[in-house]
Amino acid sequence: MDHATPRRVEHQQTDRGYVPVYATGVVEQPWDSYTATDHEVWNTLYRRQRELLPGRACAEFLEGVERFGIGENGIPKFADLNALLGKTTGWQIVAVEGLLPDEVFFDHLANRRFPVSWWIRKPDQLDYLSEPDLFHDLFGHVPLLLNPVFADYMQAYGRGGMKAFGIGPEALMNLTRLYWYTVEFGLINTPDGLRIYGAGIVSSKGESIYCLDSDAPNRIGFDLERVMNTRYRIDTYQQTYFVIESFEQLFDATRPDFTPIYQRLAAKTAHAAGDVLDGDRVFNVGTREGWATNADT
Ligand code: PHE
Ligand code: FE
Repeated sequence: MDHATPRRVEHQQTDRGYVPVYATGVVEQPWDSYTATDHEVWNTLYRRQRELLPGRACAEFLEGVERFGIGENGIPKFADLNALLGKTTGWQIVAVEGLLPDEVFFDHLANRRFPVSWWIRKPDQLDYLSEPDLFHDLFGHVPLLLNPVFADYMQAYGRGGMKAFGIGPEALMNLTRLYWYTVEFGLINTPDGLRIYGAGIVSSKGESIYCLDSDAPNRIGFDLERVMNTRYRIDTYQQTYFVIESFEQLFDATRPDFTPIYQRLAAKTAHAAGDVLDGDRVFNVGTREGWATNADT
């Protein structure tokens, strides 16, 4: 589920010839084309996560799910969700075919548009699939877009992405790691204990349990440059989760100009996904049980 990897460029016959649809990747959500099985997949995934997440996901996420009123009524219509999103934080979701080229993805975020894959996984893929589908994109990412601070963070990330794209591939990799360890796999510390806010976790039954209950992974306090310099795995549960104290902390830490950070990191070697370093604020040093030993990204 790496947003940095374009999945497919579509082509269309126009009066300029046969051209890639590169501008925005946006399509109409073909709601009428969903089958009964598609709706049943949504309902099953929704029910599983809704039972699991109280006491695991952060309050802001659960509140977002409630406010949207999404549930076991089949795949939501994006237009219905957009009515509430628009008047709350000004975000909109747009339907797309799949992963977008980096600069297109960043441009959407910078304009408060969140791309959501319109198609949903098959019944034999409930537990794992290698690319983001509607359930991951919508259930995972969209509830927090109702939170004003997180909503601003996502837009700032899109603007930062445009900038990193202009600087070069190394800067882009550093920024992608930040997205991975926050937006996708972030944990947040609360008075009641650690909670999940990352979309890659809340949309996965197995990882929603593993990230909090297992002794195997590291859980380490968020530090911007540490995170931007840490590789990650796309094929297994994470070896390390980074813990923020609040969405304000995340927004404030990422406010400064990253240009000098990109320069500093270019001279350093990246940490492996499972490293624990001197200076880390450690919540849990992982037992490393069951960790893959081949190299991470
Ligand atoms: N402050 C970052 C920059 O100058 C932009 C950014 C904001 C990146 C929030 C990520 C998240 O590039
Ligand atoms: Fe995602």
